[in-house]
Parts: sequence; C-alpha cells; structure tokens
Amino acid sequence: MSRISGTDEQIILRARGMSMLFPGTKALDNVDYNVWRGKVNVIIGENGAGKSTLMKILAGVQQPTTGEITLNGNVVSLSSTREASKLGIGMVHQELNLFENLSVAENIFLGRELQSGIKPIDEASQEARAAELMQRLDQPISPKELVGSLKVGQQQLVEIAKALAENADILILDEPTSALSKTEVAILFRVIRELTQQGVSIIYISHRLEELMAIGDMITILRDGRFQAEARVSDIDVPWIVREMLGSEPVSSFLQPGRTFGAPILEVENITCVGSNGNCVVDDVSFQVRAGEIVGIYGLMGAGRTELFECLLGTQRNYLGKLWLDSKPVPARLATSERIRMGMSLVPEDRKRTGIFPVSSVASNLTIASLWRRLSYRFAIAEQHEQTVVTDTIGNLSIKVSSPDVAINALSGGNQQKVVIGRSLLTNPRLLLLDEPSRGIDIGAKADVFRMMVKLSQQGIAVVFSTSDLKEIMAVSDRILVMSGGKLTADIPREQAEESALVKASAQGF
Ligand SMILES: Nc1ncnc2c1ncn2[C@@H]1O[C@H](COP(=O)(O)OP(=O)(O)OP(=O)(O)O)[C@@H](O)[C@H]1O
Ligand SMILES: [Mg+2]
Repeated sequence: MSRISGTDEQIILRARGMSMLFPGTKALDNVDYNVWRGKVNVIIGENGAGKSTLMKILAGVQQPTTGEITLNGNVVSLSSTREASKLGIGMVHQELNLFENLSVAENIFLGRELQSGIKPIDEASQEARAAELMQRLDQPISPKELVGSLKVGQQQLVEIAKALAENADILILDEPTSALSKTEVAILFRVIRELTQQGVSIIYISHRLEELMAIGDMITILRDGRFQAEARVSDIDVPWIVREMLGSEPVSSFLQPGRTFGAPILEVENITCVGSNGNCVVDDVSFQVRAGEIVGIYGLMGAGRTELFECLLGTQRNYLGKLWLDSKPVPARLATSERIRMGMSLVPEDRKRTGIFPVSSVASNLTIASLWRRLSYRFAIAEQHEQTVVTDTIGNLSIKVSSPDVAINALSGGNQQKVVIGRSLLTNPRLLLLDEPSRGIDIGAKADVFRMMVKLSQQGIAVVFSTSDLKEIMAVSDRILVMSGGKLTADIPREQAEESALVKASAQGF
C-alpha cells in the first residue's frame, strides 16, 4: 500500500478516517486522502469504489459517518455546499445538474446571481461573464442560448464553466469528459493547466486511463470503498493502475474467430435527417446488420451517431429513407412503442435525461419498458413472474444493489447503466442499439457489458453500439462503421480495420 507524505505547504487538504455507511453498503471504509496543492490529483477506481461519495463529502453535499477534514492545517466542518464553497471548494458533478429551460448564463449563476444596485439580477454582467467563460473554453455558444438546445458535450462544458465561475481553490471534476470530444478534452486540459499554474488544486476523476496519465500529477486509487494506493503519476504506468484497481489485467478482445451470422435483421437505406439548424445530421446513411452480428459505430461527438439511433428507434421520425426489421418494413411514422414491439431496443446515451427514472426503484426501472408484455399475461402470475425476472436480471448483469427496491439514483454510475441495459433486454429485442454503452463506467463494468453483448449476439440478436473509443470498437465489433459529419465514411470488417484508417475516416468533413 504505497502512500506519500508531505507538509501542510504541499498538501492543502487532508481527509482522515473517512467512512460512509448507507443502508446495506459501506461506500467508504476508513479512507485517508490527500489533496496536493496546485496539482492535478487524479482518482481512479471501479464503479462503486466510492470516488463520488468521497468527493461529495469534500464538497459538503453529504456528511460522512466518521472522519475528519483539515484544510490548510485547520480542522473544518463541511456541513453544506455553501460552507464548502465559502472555504473555496467547488465541484462539477458526474451527472449533469443543469436546467434545460434556463439560459447558459442563468445556469452558470443560478443560486449566486450577480446583482447591481437594487436590481436582484444583473443580467448584463452575468451574460458578459458567461461569454468570457465560454470563450475561455473555446465554445461558440451564446450566453443567452437555452441549455436544453445544447448537445450533451456542450452541456458538460457549461457545467464546467459554472464551477470555474466560483474561482475555487480546490476544484473537483467528477468525470468531466465522459461526453467530450478529443478537441473539447484538449481545451479542458489547457484550462486545468492554467488553473494549477495559478495555484488551484484540481481533483480529477475519470475512467479513461490515457487521460489520467496525461493530466495527472498525483494519483489515488480506491478499491471497494478503501484506500488502495497513492503515487506520483511520473512514477507509475497503466499496468500498475490496472493492477491496483482490479488486481488483474483486463481482457483485450472479446470475440472468438470464425463467428457466423444469419439473415439481415436491420436494413437501413438512405436515411437522411435534417437537424434544427438546417444541417443534415444524418446524411444518406445505408447499411445492414445480420443476426448474431455486432456492428460498432465509431465517431466523434456530433458525428451523428445519436441522431441515427433516434431515427432507427423512431424517437425522431422526421427523416427520409427506409428501414426494415426482420424483413418487415418500418414506416417512418411508426411510433417508438410499435418499433419496440417489433423487436427494437435502445440503450440511450444520456442515462440521466432519457435513461432512468431516478426516484423509482431498480425493479421498476428494469420492468417499465416491458410492462406491455406483462399486461399481456392474463392471470396474477404476472407479479410473481416479474419478481423472478428482476432477480434474474440483477444476477445475470451482476448489478451491485442490496435489494431491487432501492431507488436507482442511489446506485453508482456503472450499476445504473447495467439497469438500463437490463431493461432493454427484458423487451426480448431482435435488435439491440446501444449508444455509448461504456460512457462513464469503469473497466470492470465495461468488460461485463461487452461480454453481455457477445452473449446476446450468440443468441442471434443483432447488436449495434457506438463509441468514441478505438480500443473498444476494435475489441467488440464484427464490423466497424465510421460516421463523420452525418455521413457514413467507412464500413469495414474488423479483420481489415486499421486504427489509423478509422481515425482518418472519423475526421472527414471536420
Ligand atoms: N445515496 C446513496 N444511498 C445508498 N447507497 C449509495 C448512495 N450513494 C452511493 N451509494 C453506494 O455507495 C457505493 C459507492 O458509490 P460511488 O457513487 O461513490 O461510487 P463511484 O466510485 O463514484 O462509482 P462510479 O465510477 O460508478 O461513478 C456504491 O455501492 C453505491 O451504490
Ligand atoms: Mg461516481
């Protein structure tokens, strides 16, 4: 168990003996944690390791069961976010916390509005300040724009701008890049470097190892709610991180050679969809997916992958072109519920917005999409059957939850994702669409999700998933499609795919 000692000059915040008990879960178990002054302090650990819980305690969102925090050598009480913020601690949360019907500027200053004279809100100053922040993040976004009309990646940047506006001494970023493109990540990293040069201490949580290696100065690893290791990033490498995190090396490829496929399940012909800005967000896309085949769609944020999925499932019906499922035509006007009944299923990109019903239990989140199936049972065996199905799904997907009645928002990000996938599977799909299924989940949970995709394909389900991670696309696709600027720029069997060609295809038209 490696640990580094430092002086109060070097360590701005020390958390000692932090424990956090939830009913049925010990989220943190006697954790000692250091935040190094003016450094980028990265934290990594599997889903449910306790990262967000530790951060919420530092930001005053939650109070620990036990533990003591010293800031600049003085014991402090972080009893509320206001208290933490007064002491200079700010946080960007893992899940978006924005109000879609408010503007960018209003979101940034919500709860601490700028005032001038007797006016309760000085809108002009707020907008000017918000414009500066957007510029600092290289975003051509107007402060007056409604947050609801922005893409997830841009919303994440607004969330970051909101934290920057606080001028914190310790800035916590809990998975800030899960929805960002490479370019946007580079911008964020520049801003982080500027901040550390000004003496700001950054805490940075991510599941992307390359990012941690690139931006981190110090690294802390949590495992199962316990402190595992602390090191200087310059002293360690990726295999070390993986070993400390999991205790073993991850699997690299998930597909056995000689896979066979059946008849086409999904046929897509010339799908074209015009976005609200008048551009083609999906531009004349055609492809097929066969039974038992896993097709990976690679592309950057904004390439049109999400929009394509929306056309396929009919949550967006304003498109041209033709679709067939199991050789049956799917007319554009056909409602999503009808398409689900035909055998389509989608695991959406943004869990919080479209994926989960936050206050409902894990059990109802699992069964809600398959209710029609349940209603089609004639007798009261339905309920009994439902309980069995829920327990089986929780077991099969190794969802970590003490009881199916726990509210889903009490689960860690990765476990929430597994519930959303479980729900899709309960509709018995012929075609499973997964939009960024591994977004914001750790290596262990990713491997679970990928293994599940392979298992489903072996049962004859056609699987289509999207990702902006090259390694993932190479590890689990039978065939790789690349999207860029709404167009399909490549359609290659995996054996012939080369990473450099994929990257090139994904940048066409940018
Ligand atoms: N409010 C809560 N009530 C009950 N259990 C909780 C609550 N918040 C977190 N937990 C549990 O505590 C554990 C740690 O969760 P936490 O969110 O801190 O993990 P994490 O490391 O941030 O994971 P991820 O990488 O998935 O975001 C998990 O088992 C989680 O389900
Ligand atoms: Mg978390």
